[in-house]
Amino acid sequence: MEFEFGGGYVLRRALREDHPAINLVCLRTGNSGRDATAREDDPDLLGLIYSVPYQVLEPDFAFVVEGPNGVCGYILGTPDSAAFYERAGREWFPPLAARLADPGPDESRWRGSDWARRAIHHPEFIYPEALHEWPAHGHIDLLQETRGKGIGRRGMRYLMTKLREAGAQGMHLHVSPKNLGAQAFYRTLGFSVVQHPSLPRDTVFMAAVL
Ligand SMILES: CC(C)(COP(=O)(O)OP(=O)(O)OC[C@H]1O[C@@H](n2cnc3c(N)ncnc32)[C@H](O)[C@@H]1OP(=O)(O)O)[C@@H](O)C(=O)NCCC(=O)NCCS
Repeated sequence: MEFEFGGGYVLRRALREDHPAINLVCLRTGNSGRDATAREDDPDLLGLIYSVPYQVLEPDFAFVVEGPNGVCGYILGTPDSAAFYERAGREWFPPLAARLADPGPDESRWRGSDWARRAIHHPEFIYPEALHEWPAHGHIDLLQETRGKGIGRRGMRYLMTKLREAGAQGMHLHVSPKNLGAQAFYRTLGFSVVQHPSLPRDTVFMAAVL
């Protein structure tokens, strides 16, 4: 165990056995912080894209929050985005793509989780030079019952310390433009918005010195 938050909530290293719970947390927070269950026809794909690969490829920086009802959140990251994306493209996505049909490029024909199947066949890693000052990146998602108790703040600070100790001097995050709550949360941790012509407009990029 890494530490206790109080109230029966602890932070511990994420394990392979946590993959189903990690997928579920990702699904239930995957619509700009809200529940994406109704949108998806495959409940695991969001987590297999955005969360589980961190436990597999960066286990030293992958943590779950466990509460009275089991796993209720995760905090994940990597100190080296370039190396992480290189490995994810080589080792993680190809075997996953091999067991899913590619729905093709025509978005008007996509249904349910087709967008995710397409993303798994054609993974996009956004790490242009404009972000290199902040080489670490990470993700945090907590189920509703876990929010507003200071767990996010303490968990993120813990991850940020681990990433700094691993040599990263800065960290960036991808946030949905609709997720104003998460943007406010990250600002309290010292993150601010990065704007650059090389960054896609449909995502808000935030960064902080570690
Ligand atoms: C965003 C999230 C990680 C915040 O974690 P949390 O444990 O609820 O936040 P904390 O209780 O630690 O709050 C820390 C600070 O952030 C602020 N904050 C947290 N959530 C906020 C929100 N929705 N709106 C405004 N401020 C918020 C708190 O007021 C607090 O401020 P303070 O330091 O001035 O007191 C959590 O609510 C969550 O997982 N949401 C759903 C998934 C999500 O959106 N993930 C981010 C995807 S990019």
